[in-house]
Amino acid sequence: MRSPSVGAGLAAASAVVTCLLLPAAARSDGDGVYSFRQPSRDGTGKVYMGREIALVMGHRGIGWLERPGREAEERTDLLLESLELAPDAVVADIGAGSGYFTFRLAGRVPRGRVLAVDIQPEMLEVIERRRGAAGLDNVEAVLGSETDPGLPPETVDAALMVDAYHEFSHPREMMTAIVAALRPGGRVYLVEYREEDPSVRIKPLHKMSEGQARRELEAAGLRWVENRGVLPQQHILIFEKPGG
Ligand SMILES: C[S@@+](CC[C@H](N)C(=O)[O-])C[C@H]1O[C@@H](n2cnc3c(N)ncnc32)[C@H](O)[C@@H]1O
Repeated sequence: MRSPSVGAGLAAASAVVTCLLLPAAARSDGDGVYSFRQPSRDGTGKVYMGREIALVMGHRGIGWLERPGREAEERTDLLLESLELAPDAVVADIGAGSGYFTFRLAGRVPRGRVLAVDIQPEMLEVIERRRGAAGLDNVEAVLGSETDPGLPPETVDAALMVDAYHEFSHPREMMTAIVAALRPGGRVYLVEYREEDPSVRIKPLHKMSEGQARRELEAAGLRWVENRGVLPQQHILIFEKPGG
């Protein structure tokens, strides 16, 4: 997430960041994929392919995710258009939070489904309430684990992760499970603040470079497609599952 130093709202969100992933617990991963160091500010101290994993944003940051200025600031409208979803697509919104994207996606796949995955039950309760209030039958809330989004194999056309991947405690396991859940030819849309751009005023661990993202997602067996450069602050990094 964005640096709390850039605004009071962000400071509030940051103040409620919850460390779900203590480095001591993570040490039991022990298969050499991850290493550990002294945690930096907002970091877990757990390192994957040279990148320190960020702390998870707690559910008390919902106000920030749903802030009124978000669309204009992040051009989330352009992000959604870039996905070019078929009306019957099955989309997984992984790290869905309060469902900011889930409910905007639902209108774009009237004959498909949106699977809103998160590890925080409080986030899923909000999504469930919103789903009921809107009377939507193409949205499903899915409680995932830190290693597995819990999606059936080869059922998903598109997996969207907005400002979430950098805080996955087990990115290797998560991506392996996401690739398994994608249909052949299915796509991953990874949206992260641009590390390469110093004008993007976000804490370092909440940004990712295209190169780092490519190393990590290609290691999970995905094929690079493109970086769709339409957003003011974020990359839209597109990957595909081979075999489509
Ligand atoms: C910063 S929020 C972004 C929410 C939403 N994508 C948005 O842009 O409004 C990141 C979310 O990712 C979730 N998350 C973290 N690790 C996760 C994992 N392994 N699987 C699913 N969700 C995860 C957190 O619980 C949090 O709700």
